[in-house]
Amino acid sequence: MPPATSVPDTAPADSNSLTVRRLLVDLQGGFSRHWHGGDAFQSQYYNALSMSFPVGEQSFIDSVRDGLKLLPDTPEQVALRDTVERFIGQEATHRQVHSLYNAQLEKQGLVNRWQHWATRRIEFGRSRNIHPRHMLAVTAAYEHCTAVFADGTLRHDSWFAKADPRMQTLWRWHAAEEIEHRAVAFDLYRELGGNHAWRVRWFAYAVLVFTLDACRQTVLNLYRDGTLFKPATWWSALRFFWGRNGMAWRCTGPLLRYLRRDFHPDQESRQAPAITSHALAIRWLTDNANSWQKVR
Ligand SMILES: [Fe+2]
Ligand SMILES: [Fe+2]
Repeated sequence: MPPATSVPDTAPADSNSLTVRRLLVDLQGGFSRHWHGGDAFQSQYYNALSMSFPVGEQSFIDSVRDGLKLLPDTPEQVALRDTVERFIGQEATHRQVHSLYNAQLEKQGLVNRWQHWATRRIEFGRSRNIHPRHMLAVTAAYEHCTAVFADGTLRHDSWFAKADPRMQTLWRWHAAEEIEHRAVAFDLYRELGGNHAWRVRWFAYAVLVFTLDACRQTVLNLYRDGTLFKPATWWSALRFFWGRNGMAWRCTGPLLRYLRRDFHPDQESRQAPAITSHALAIRWLTDNANSWQKVR
């Protein structure tokens, strides 16, 4: 990785300058089953996450759209409205790219069950006519989780170093944009009067549901891949969560920061890393400017 000093860590941490981009990665020709450096577990874990994105990100879009309808039409809210529109543009692009990705997974014989579990829960929530603030709180919670994983993706080169170069680009581009727009749903939730207690309750719900679904879908993928019962698969899983720079060590603390009453997504860790999340995102987008095109 380039030295941490190559980008100032005072880069603007607001979301006012969100750019909607088209990713210049071609997945039409497919990719190998174990695109993550031949590692079955990591390939199928990330495949599982990808399977959740089209439905999940559509729900995020719907929740901020519903929230926007309740935002007073005042000059003070013009900037937030524009940012929310750009958030929708970014998430819509993520959906599109991950739908193409998931179409390749289907060709490889994998079955996406996560999308149905998520759809059922979302439809249930909407059928109860709960206040849009609740769906926004769920979105803000997932956005925090994705921002934490995104930070790891850009900070720890080893997370994707052995992956197919196209997949490295895809996952890092998604990570950079997740960091860029991590505060949008949170800010809208607060503008609409969302409180701390419900924010924390929905966060606990989101983490629980995400963990269960990610486990179920990964196991299903590995089963269909024929690698579920191989010792190498389980050894890889162990290292992935508990090894050097493992998910458990790197993500648990940052995830729990969400419980703080004074938490805001654009606050950087108090442990003062050498380079902030936002600077990591800017650095990746700058260094890989030939991998994307500005849409607006
Ligand atoms: Fe996204
Ligand atoms: Fe997002």
